[in-house]
Amino acid sequence: MIEIEQLLRANKAWAKDRLEKDPHFFSRLENLQSPKFLWIGCSDSRVPANEITGTQPGEIFVHRNVANMVIHTDMNMLTVLEYAVHHLQVEHIIVCGHYGCGGVEASLTQKSYGIINKWLRNIKDVHRLYAQEIDSTLDTKERNRRMVELNVKEQVLNLAKTSIVQKAWAERKGPHLHGWVYGLDNGLIKAINDVPPGFPLDPLYVYEDFQ
Ligand code: CO
Repeated sequence: MIEIEQLLRANKAWAKDRLEKDPHFFSRLENLQSPKFLWIGCSDSRVPANEITGTQPGEIFVHRNVANMVIHTDMNMLTVLEYAVHHLQVEHIIVCGHYGCGGVEASLTQKSYGIINKWLRNIKDVHRLYAQEIDSTLDTKERNRRMVELNVKEQVLNLAKTSIVQKAWAERKGPHLHGWVYGLDNGLIKAINDVPPGFPLDPLYVYEDFQ
């Protein structure tokens, strides 16, 4: 078990190592943040955005929550999205789920988790959209895996349904949206869906202006 002091010792060693390899590493990052990617991932400790994509500090703007959700009333997510899309001008947004996601698996049960129920309700709504497919899959593991994939797909579509993304699409033909799922068992990412700028949405969700 790693103790808290060990984290601070490791940080000192890391900073020293960075400076040895590149004396300008910190001064460069201090003055400029221009990531090309926004990552919306699960809070799960086993799915760290930078490590699994081989990226460095400064390269990915990150938002994480339980089960990588894009909920249209979540001010935290919306603030990150607005800043990433309209200030940092990211070119890609990735929603990355993972197989074995506890949040998704809990949503497939009738167990109550107190306040967490309110968050998981949004995944149950995805389940309802795909009930025919999910409920006809009898193998529990397979059903969980499919729900993880469909949840990612719907969260990507939720991004496209925001006026934040639609405004950017109209103004600069970006960003491109991607749904990915990470395998805890093999470390590999599987692409699930791809939503380019201007992707045709259900007209119910298309805004005429972007207030
Ligand atoms: Co998870």
